[in-house]
Amino acid sequence: FPTEKIRNFSIIAHVDHGKSTLADRLLELTGTIKRGHGQPQYLDKLQVERERGITVKAQTATMFYDHKFQGANDIDVQEPRRFLLNLIDTPGHVDFSYEVSRSLAACQGALLVVDAAQGVQAQTVANFYLAFESNLTIIPVINKIDQPTADPDRVKAQLKSMFDLDPNDALLTSAKTGQGLEHVLPAVIERMPPPPGNCNSPLRMLLLDSYYDEYKGVICHVAVVDGTLRKGDKISSAATGQSYEVLDVGIMHPELTPTGVLLTGQVGYVVSGMRSTKEARVGDTLHQSRTIVEPLPGFKPVKHMVFSGVYPVDGSDFEALNHAIERLTCNDASVSVTKESSTALGLGFRCGFLGLLHMDVFHQRLEQEYGAHVISTVPTVPYIFEYSDGRYVGPVITLCSERRGEQLEYTFIDSQRVCMKYRLPLREIVVDFYNELKSITSGYASFDYEDSEYQASDLVKLDLLLNGQPIDAMAAIVHTLKAQRLGRDLVEKLKKFIDRQMFEITIQAAIGSKVVARETVSAMRKNVLAKCYGGDVTRKRKLLEKQKEGKKRMKRVGSVDIPQEAFHELLKVS
Ligand code: GTP
Repeated sequence: FPTEKIRNFSIIAHVDHGKSTLADRLLELTGTIKRGHGQPQYLDKLQVERERGITVKAQTATMFYDHKFQGANDIDVQEPRRFLLNLIDTPGHVDFSYEVSRSLAACQGALLVVDAAQGVQAQTVANFYLAFESNLTIIPVINKIDQPTADPDRVKAQLKSMFDLDPNDALLTSAKTGQGLEHVLPAVIERMPPPPGNCNSPLRMLLLDSYYDEYKGVICHVAVVDGTLRKGDKISSAATGQSYEVLDVGIMHPELTPTGVLLTGQVGYVVSGMRSTKEARVGDTLHQSRTIVEPLPGFKPVKHMVFSGVYPVDGSDFEALNHAIERLTCNDASVSVTKESSTALGLGFRCGFLGLLHMDVFHQRLEQEYGAHVISTVPTVPYIFEYSDGRYVGPVITLCSERRGEQLEYTFIDSQRVCMKYRLPLREIVVDFYNELKSITSGYASFDYEDSEYQASDLVKLDLLLNGQPIDAMAAIVHTLKAQRLGRDLVEKLKKFIDRQMFEITIQAAIGSKVVARETVSAMRKNVLAKCYGGDVTRKRKLLEKQKEGKKRMKRVGSVDIPQEAFHELLKVS
């Protein structure tokens, strides 16, 4: 099919204005499905769609139509010409407008269906603008004119005033009685442009939708924007760079019908051995492997309005549920999924939906199509909130000023992040500043530092003494204001590490000759000493320690043993 004989169009409308019924009639009219096939709303394939009488998924069907141009002088032109029409049925409910905009990306025109009695409704307006912004040719179809309350003139006036659509362009139909339907496809062919692609350019196709089939694996619906796709071609994904071989290609007529080729402007399906549904990213550009193409614009990211937790009824079904959700989200990419766990319900998922109906439909599809039994939590809506303590900024400022920091800069990187620059004494950050910073910011803060210059400061030497003898390895240079508190902390900590010995031990912290803190380790009681008689007590003790604690190393200060780890621990205090 040459591109000029292809038309890709969509039917858009407010819910219940008759899109699916009209789509059925057009499929019948073109012989794509048999009249009275006993299954109304042919394109509403999902069980949930039939039960609820609503369209959830956009479906595509290819039709062939022999068109006779009316009023043309050229005799040749009056011969019927065969056109290939791709009809994309879309949902009407506000929750599924994402599906609508996706379908419109593959279309050049849209039939805007309006109920002749109800007139223009909220979704008529929303969908009109989606189509209008996509530069589609819009043909108004005033449907249900068979109803006693139908008032097509009023609807025409609404279309004019709301959308500036010419009342003369409106088609009047009854999808129920068939009245006026013969004008629909001729209008599509004559008023809508063919797809704009270039058949001589390298292949580019837009991944419109995908789903998992038990027998064929992942099936992708694609719109060929440029070039030609053939069975056996090697194609690559612009998003992932992965390559695949085209195993099967065809059209939805309306069932999968292999054609071996898809030409520029055609909409069809591709089976390419994608193993995981995650590989089929809706909105992705697929192209011939080893050719470089500009990726197509893709789709607007979705905005989730409702969130709810989804948990398996039986905790052991978690993996099965994970699998089901993965499959289902391939067919409904507008759901966001993150894993979460709850004390009461165990492992589960937090899912984001476009609305409550979307959420209900998702749950119902999980149960009906995947046999999953789930508990869903009360839906919540997203909030933007600010911590009353200014997020983590407050505690960080406190920490820096406690560490004698001087603030140099405070800038917002974006609405979520702040960059703070401080001049801090190196001594204050070498030991545990980073850990402290991470813990007060729940791990969100990051930290980097560079050398500033030396600064004059009010410092003193703090000595630690055991039985009056200074332990040089434990002396520290500290700020005067902190010396006393630090002295106390060090003395208390050191006491914990020193085992009682046969004599009393005093531990002191001193600045020069001034003692700022003091603790005492009392001597051992006599009966404990008994076993130490008959030999060098300290040596025996050492042997026993060694036996008990393996390689625990001791430092001896005067006559007092201090374990090696005490030195490390004391460093953390300073
Ligand atoms: P969603 O898929 O939920 O968006 O709805 P829809 O717009 O596809 O509507 P659908 O085709 O399901 O039609 C809704 C109801 O209107 C059905 O009961 C149809 O039988 C009825 N209906 C559709 N077209 C006509 C018509 O021309 N006249 C009358 N009287 N009823 C119609």
